Amino acid sequence: MKRMILIVVLCVAALGVVLFVQQSRKSEAKGGVIEAIEARRSIRKYSDKSVEREKLQKIAECGVAAPSAMNSQDWELRIVDSKAWIDECTAIFVEQIQGTPTGDKMLTPDFKNMFRNAPAVIFVAAKGDAYSDLNAGLLGENMMLAAYELGLGTCCLGMPLMVLNEHHPKGKEKLASLGFSEGYRLRYALAVGYADEAPEAKQRDLSKIRFVE
Ligand SMILES: Cc1cc2nc3c(=O)[nH]c(=O)nc-3n(C[C@H](O)[C@H](O)[C@H](O)COP(=O)(O)O)c2cc1C
Repeated sequence: MKRMILIVVLCVAALGVVLFVQQSRKSEAKGGVIEAIEARRSIRKYSDKSVEREKLQKIAECGVAAPSAMNSQDWELRIVDSKAWIDECTAIFVEQIQGTPTGDKMLTPDFKNMFRNAPAVIFVAAKGDAYSDLNAGLLGENMMLAAYELGLGTCCLGMPLMVLNEHHPKGKEKLASLGFSEGYRLRYALAVGYADEAPEAKQRDLSKIRFVE
């Protein structure tokens, strides 16, 4: 009788272990890369909470873990979490867009800065050969997904290039202060911060995908 009870107890324990492993595999799958890809959104409202530097470093490292043609790694990243730097750059931007349709759209009462109000920005520059834009793009998606996993929101931004370029009388100084190496051109800025909104997914056109028989 005792042996029977022992066998039953062992069977129940074994079943419990199997169910536990299955369950944890399921939850691993839920928190995986595909879940991050499907849930990521461009965030344009951030809380004032600053982003921990360890997290910014990790996001950047995940960026440079991206593939690049012939492992060229022809990118450079600059991380800015200085409010003074962001505000100075924003002042140049505001001067430029004030009184324009972009200004009317962006300069709302909740406007804090030109990086969609984010407290931190990662600037990505690349050298100008054939694959550099592709490489920089792959790096960017890696960073956005890593940020998502770390509980942070992001928004890839092309608009700051309006100001941060070598032809802009004031913006060129700000660009120079990022200290990119000779031959590297700024490609985009990645806003990073704690999200203060949860936007709906934007529609994707799945008809762009086709199998060829
Ligand atoms: C190269 C690039 C430049 C972008 N520039 C801006 C920008 O200047 N301002 C902005 O608000 N969003 C910008 N975006 C974000 C896109 O608008 C956004 O990814 C798109 O609407 C899809 O929305 P989702 O990211 O939430 O899926 C940019 C995205 C990319 C890839």
